[in-house]
Amino acid sequence: MDATALERQNRRIKRLRAQGVTRSTVLVHEECRPVLDSLRPHFLNPQKVETLTALVEKLHSKVKPTNVAQVRHLSPFRYPGGKTWLVPEVRQWLKSAYQRPSVFVEPFAGGAIAGLSVAAEGLADKVFLCELDDDVAAVWETIFHGTEDDVEQLTKKIISFEVTLENVRAVLDGNPRTTSNRAFRTIIKNRMQRGGIMAAGAGLVKSGEAGRGLNSRWYPETLATRIKVLRQIKDGIVFKHGDALDSVRLYAKDPNAFFFVDPPYTAGGKKAGSRLYTFNEVDHEGLFKLMASVQGSVMMTYDDSSEVREMAGRYGFRIELVPMKNTHHAIINELLILKP
Ligand SMILES: C[S@@+](CC[C@H](N)C(=O)[O-])C[C@H]1O[C@@H](n2cnc3c(N)ncnc32)[C@H](O)[C@@H]1O
Repeated sequence: MDATALERQNRRIKRLRAQGVTRSTVLVHEECRPVLDSLRPHFLNPQKVETLTALVEKLHSKVKPTNVAQVRHLSPFRYPGGKTWLVPEVRQWLKSAYQRPSVFVEPFAGGAIAGLSVAAEGLADKVFLCELDDDVAAVWETIFHGTEDDVEQLTKKIISFEVTLENVRAVLDGNPRTTSNRAFRTIIKNRMQRGGIMAAGAGLVKSGEAGRGLNSRWYPETLATRIKVLRQIKDGIVFKHGDALDSVRLYAKDPNAFFFVDPPYTAGGKKAGSRLYTFNEVDHEGLFKLMASVQGSVMMTYDDSSEVREMAGRYGFRIELVPMKNTHHAIINELLILKP
């Protein structure tokens, strides 16, 4: 470019800057280039902001909710607030990363369906799960860090358990001394209490599926198979019994770490989380602040509320809405909160 042309261009850039227009670099796939080119003039016009925002919202809201039956279930839990329906979203997120994820961190693991799927499909070098609840932790400790003997004992107990009200009560009232016995009690609790709720105060399943009562959620062979499969992939999984925020800090400086954060939700005045889990008090503001500070990628999931949207905006996260079917088959939106 000759000197006059350069000077002319600089004058134009200066004039545009005065009008609020600055240069931005975007990475674009060849396939999408024509779309970007057709949108270019609209980005210069501030009156188009609403139309462009509406377009983006449409782009981000997925029309078809996930069919949960299409997700291979690996967790021995039927977890309240479980995120099976989000697995395709998580898979897509990891697959579209520029670099292979060094670690997939699930700091509020619960039934850990996301982390287990990532490990089984080899989508990250390592999966790191963390859970604070002693009962839930006992199951993961046994499966991922227990001896062959521990796992065999757990599996045998599951297979040979005879489901009667008396036997169930005896297990629930018991005081297990070993981690694997505690794991067994947790599994019984999870299967026999209504909604899989293991927090104090949950009642037993009464009529259940097709009037099968306590038996309605008891599939011992399936549970044994899942445990066996998880043992086969245990080398790629680390479980930590502890606090979520401490686990996040362990990987805060890793730019290739991927954090999937699904905390118990008690913000925004909705108290759903408090009935479901023993540990339900989370400093959401502190969590947002921490997640905004990590070097890696973040996906958080929350119920849609103005308080959560406000925090996400304040900490510079981007929001997507994902429709899901709730237990009453109504479609409700869940917020995905993302970085970058
Ligand atoms: C919404 S559930 C996670 C469900 C999980 N994503 C699934 O698909 O099964 C939240 C979990 O966080 C756990 N939790 C609560 N406070 C915690 C903390 N400070 N550190 C680690 N885990 C915590 C709860 O016990 C519960 O299991």
